[in-house]
Amino acid sequence: MSSSSGWQRVLPTSPAPVPYFWRCPLWVGLQACRRLTKRTLSRMPWTSRLVSCLQQRQWGPGTVLYSGEVFGRYWPRFVATGLPAPESIVCEVGPGPSLDVSLMFALAGVREAVAVDYAPWASREASLARAGELAEVMLAQGGWSDEEQAAIRRRAAQGGLPLRYEQHPLEDLQLPAGSVDFLFSHAVLEHISDPAAAFASIARVLSPRGVAIHHIDLKDHGFLRNRNPVLMLQFPRWLWDCCTRGVPGSISRRRLSAYLQAATQAGLEVHVLQRHMLPQCPVPSGQLAVEFRGLSAEDLCTLDAEVLCCHASPIAAVEIRRHVAL
Ligand SMILES: C[S@@+](CC[C@H](N)C(=O)[O-])C[C@H]1O[C@@H](n2cnc3c(N)ncnc32)[C@H](O)[C@@H]1O
Repeated sequence: MSSSSGWQRVLPTSPAPVPYFWRCPLWVGLQACRRLTKRTLSRMPWTSRLVSCLQQRQWGPGTVLYSGEVFGRYWPRFVATGLPAPESIVCEVGPGPSLDVSLMFALAGVREAVAVDYAPWASREASLARAGELAEVMLAQGGWSDEEQAAIRRRAAQGGLPLRYEQHPLEDLQLPAGSVDFLFSHAVLEHISDPAAAFASIARVLSPRGVAIHHIDLKDHGFLRNRNPVLMLQFPRWLWDCCTRGVPGSISRRRLSAYLQAATQAGLEVHVLQRHMLPQCPVPSGQLAVEFRGLSAEDLCTLDAEVLCCHASPIAAVEIRRHVAL
C-alpha cells in the first residue's frame, strides 16, 4: 500500500530570523490568547459540535483524508509485525477529534480496535456512520487483494464493527496486562506529562509479541512553529510552565532522548525508525533554557521522530529487524 507523504508537514530548512528583542513578549502574548481560547473551549458543552464543524474541512485532524493518511502510515507497520489481524487487539492512544483511524483498523479485520483518549473529543457513532466512506478511502490507497477489498466493503456494510472508545490517560491504561498486540499514537507523546508512567503503562498492556509505534512531534506547537520550530527551547522553565500548565494541547518541550530513556527504563526495547532534523539549531546554545544547554545537537535539532518499542525478547528482536527494514 502506498502511503501519501502529504501528512508530513514541510520542514523549514532555513527559518526566517525573528528579532530577539520581540520574541519573548510576542510569544507570551500569543500563548496567553491560546491559553484563554483553549481553556474556554474545553469547558464548553458544545465543543464536540464545534469539532464536527471543523471536520467539514478537506484536510487536517479529524478529516477523513487526514485519517486515511495516518492509517496508511500505521497499517503497513502492523502488517510488517506479522501479527495475525483476526487475532490482534490494536490500541490507538490519543485519537483526538475522530476515531476514524481505529475504525479503519476494524474495517481491515483486526479482532478489536480500542481508541483511548483522556478527553472525549470524538464520537464513536460519527465514525461508525461514515464507515462506508472510510472503507473507500482505504481501498483508494491500493495494495488490497480482491478478497480483502470485498471483506472491507462487507464489514462496512454489515456494521457491528469491533471499535471501543475509552477515556483514560495513557499513563494509566485501563486495559488488561499483556492484552494489546499493536499500540500506536500520532502526535500524542509530546503532550504527556509523565513519560516514565506512560511507558510503564505501555509495557504493562503490550503482549509479549506486541509492538508500539509512536510518532512524536517535537516542534513548537505555537504560532511561531514555522518560523523557528525550536524557538520554545529558549524560554525559562518558569515562563513556559506559567503559560502552558493546565492548557489542553500544551506540549512538554521534552526532547527525543527523554522519551527513549523513559522507554528503556520501563524495560522496553526502543528503535528510532525515522527522524527529521534541522541542519543546525537556530537558537545558539547560550540562549537556550538551562535544562537544554547540555543536550546534544542531534537531540536539539530533532523535529519529529517515529519510535518503535517492544518487549526486549528474542521474538521481538526478529520483528524489529523487519520493521527497521521498512
Ligand atoms: C494533537 S492531538 C493528536 C490527535 C490525533 N492523533 C492526530 O494525529 O490528529 C493529541 C491527542 O492526545 C490526547 N492526549 C494527550 N495527552 C494524553 C494522555 N496523557 N493520555 C491520553 N491521551 C492524551 C489528547 O486528548 C488529544 O486527543
